[in-house]
Amino acid sequence: MKDAAPQPTLLADYRPYPFDVTGVELTFRLSPEATRVVARIGFAPNPARPGRNDLRLDGEKLKLHSAKIDSKPVKPDQDAEGLTVPASQLPDGPFTWDAEVEIDPKGNTALEGLYMSGGIYCTQCEAEGFRKITYYPDRPDVMAPFKVRIESDLPVLLSNGNPTAKGKGWAEWTDPWPKPAYLFALVAGDLVAVSDTFTTMSGKTVDLNIWVREGDEDRCAYAMDSLIRSMKWDEEVYGREYDLDVFNIVAIDDFNMGAMENKGLNIFNSKLVLASPETATDGDFERIEGVIAHEYFHNWTGDRITCRDWFQLCLKEGLTVFRDQQFTSDMRSEPVKRIEDVLTLRARQFREDMGPLAHPVRPESYIEINNFYTATVYEKGAEVIGMLKRLVGDDGYRKALDLYFERHDGEAATIEDWLMVFEDATGRDLTQFKRWYTDAGTPRLTVAEDWSDGSFTLTFTQKTPPTPGQDKKKPRVIPIAVGLLNPNGDEVVPTMILEMTKATQSFRFEELASRPVPSILRGFSAPVVLDRDVPAEERAFLLAHDTDPFNKWESGRALAKDVLVSMIGKDEAPSQSFIDALGRVLTNDSLDPAFRALCLRMPSEDDLAQTLHDAGQVPDPEAIHAGRGALSKAIARSLQKPLVATYDAMATPGEFAPDATSAGKRALRLACLWLLNHIDNGTRAAALFASADNMTESHGALACLIEGGRGTREIGAFYERWKDNRLVIDKWFMVQVLHAAPKDAAPTAERLAEHPDFEWTNPNRFRALLGALGANHAGFHETSGRAYRFYADWLLKLDPLNPQTTARMSTAFETWSRYDVDRKSMIRAELDRIAATEGLSRDTYEMVTRIRA
Ligand code: ARG
Ligand code: ZN
Repeated sequence: MKDAAPQPTLLADYRPYPFDVTGVELTFRLSPEATRVVARIGFAPNPARPGRNDLRLDGEKLKLHSAKIDSKPVKPDQDAEGLTVPASQLPDGPFTWDAEVEIDPKGNTALEGLYMSGGIYCTQCEAEGFRKITYYPDRPDVMAPFKVRIESDLPVLLSNGNPTAKGKGWAEWTDPWPKPAYLFALVAGDLVAVSDTFTTMSGKTVDLNIWVREGDEDRCAYAMDSLIRSMKWDEEVYGREYDLDVFNIVAIDDFNMGAMENKGLNIFNSKLVLASPETATDGDFERIEGVIAHEYFHNWTGDRITCRDWFQLCLKEGLTVFRDQQFTSDMRSEPVKRIEDVLTLRARQFREDMGPLAHPVRPESYIEINNFYTATVYEKGAEVIGMLKRLVGDDGYRKALDLYFERHDGEAATIEDWLMVFEDATGRDLTQFKRWYTDAGTPRLTVAEDWSDGSFTLTFTQKTPPTPGQDKKKPRVIPIAVGLLNPNGDEVVPTMILEMTKATQSFRFEELASRPVPSILRGFSAPVVLDRDVPAEERAFLLAHDTDPFNKWESGRALAKDVLVSMIGKDEAPSQSFIDALGRVLTNDSLDPAFRALCLRMPSEDDLAQTLHDAGQVPDPEAIHAGRGALSKAIARSLQKPLVATYDAMATPGEFAPDATSAGKRALRLACLWLLNHIDNGTRAAALFASADNMTESHGALACLIEGGRGTREIGAFYERWKDNRLVIDKWFMVQVLHAAPKDAAPTAERLAEHPDFEWTNPNRFRALLGALGANHAGFHETSGRAYRFYADWLLKLDPLNPQTTARMSTAFETWSRYDVDRKSMIRAELDRIAATEGLSRDTYEMVTRIRA
């Protein structure tokens, strides 16, 4: 970065905008390299900012052709970030701003603002993309009704709200609901719609359309079905009705993120819309269902009630993630969904919270807001709401949410507003609870047990390690769900919530006939690390008897980790008692196959690296990889018979169905295959690959083959079959790098980067290859440092075109400080090289400097 380091924006500096925007009228004359945007904006002085104020408008990369105030030309002072009209040139009261600017959608490689993807015009405005479309107060607390006219010969012209008029070569849209500019959207292109309707709870009919390119119509059914179920669920569970005549979704190939909740016009990464049994895995179907729901739910939690400023991002994201998790758990299996969510939380958010990028759920400072769309804001933000609900109960939660919608509809709110509705609805003081929003870091919980005269005492101690900028942490409110089992395995105390508020606190259970076995943190009732040395027999006991499915799984998980740690660190033999316990889960037909599949899945190598690091060891990626392979092999040898039997029994013949039950069977089948693959020379995987009629199994089989160092022929066949399908070819790139042996990962990635189909400016394709390399733990950290260098080279290549995706991908380096001196210095050298690059984006600069700090 050659110029002075960019200055942070601070929460403490928040002030309301000096003007209200009373209305926005936009006309777009679309042209690939010279689109004209004509804006008419009504301003009125904001009583919250009395006195005379300059008119400051954000604007980036805009060519200003004309500007007028109340029809009289003005000459604003322009700079790289916007323009200013001095107060002296403004009328006393309300006034109208007219401006015409020119922009270049085709040259917009950052995919922010108005850009083109495969001939389709589309927009992405969150967080600060609207300022690349026209001059505007581009901040979420400025809300206004929008009217949009689009002029273009393209057949489909879409914007927010309801369609109000159209003719040959133009269309007009009116959005009656005041919204911030980040929710603006426009799409124009040669698109076709898959359509349906939904009748709302008050009997209004809503037209639903999913817009895709011709030829993709037959892969929209699952997305449409998910949308209809989401609309119904939000009415039934939250009492929220849809509020426009139409709801449009568009699938776009070049997209920096998953999807975007623009009012009435959601724009999606095509991989989160398009699915058929042949092209999408069960995991893809589940994600599509979840993200369709997520974006739809934003209509109330995000659009009708938005955020005052970007520090409040978790207000809409944490809540909307929480809502989509509830939805999925209602649609599928609650325990399985909970385990999956905790796996993601630990893999992404705990990793973030324990490293240099740790920040509070509500941060207080940022350089580039796009860098704060993080697992902490989203996933931990959702966990915090789960805790609130546990503390106030289901009724209290419902009352608080009703009050939230009633009190803040049409407003831009804050975390203070959010907590206040809970206080007002339930009478609870949430002062201490608020620390979950303001303090970074994952609390660590230790437990001491005491047993005497029929009374059992649990004493908990909480401690949160320091995080950047926050050395000392105060105790938090931690809801700890606990149940007690007697030695026969019967539950003697059903789940209850212990409310911990002090640094150390005891809870006593009286009148017990025998010393119980505690099941602690049931359902993962708080996002904390439970540091507890539990003997293997007790873990196996809970794996067999716990009535709480989460802790049942967790006990097996902890056992597996203990076994792996002793195999990796101390070269011990795999534990037979662990394998036997796993065998009992595998063959227990009363357990949901999806649950059994989760129990068979080994902890990830990255997770093991963190575990070893926490235990004061320096993780050796090769040794972790080898240890995990050795345990898998030992399991396969010992449980061969039941694994084969289960593999056969879990076949799902007949027509493919993406529902949770069928998906669970396939998941268990593939988990068995994964283990058997270590001892059958790939014969089952090859046979499954040859016979599979769905992507779940064909992709799963291919992954096994590659993991076993085989599959060359199948990789070729897969390519030939799918070379015309971008989304499947993304999988083809990814699977080869993700499952490559440690020494082969970087060479494979280097070779694939030369492939003619490596269209690296497409974010999905870039993430498929580079993301897979970063996620191949032993491959990424291979001793020569070749992967580090290759990865950094590509970050530097992408940065000038697409800073947002580059910055996000730089997190592959966030765990550098766990490793040995050689690896550390190699990674630091790459970070230094990136940071020192002339013209580096603000996005990537912020990330690499935080990571290496
Ligand atoms: N609001 C979108 C969602 O979570 C994501 C937008 C991400 N924006 C960004 N600049 N990273 O549904
Ligand atoms: Zn969201």
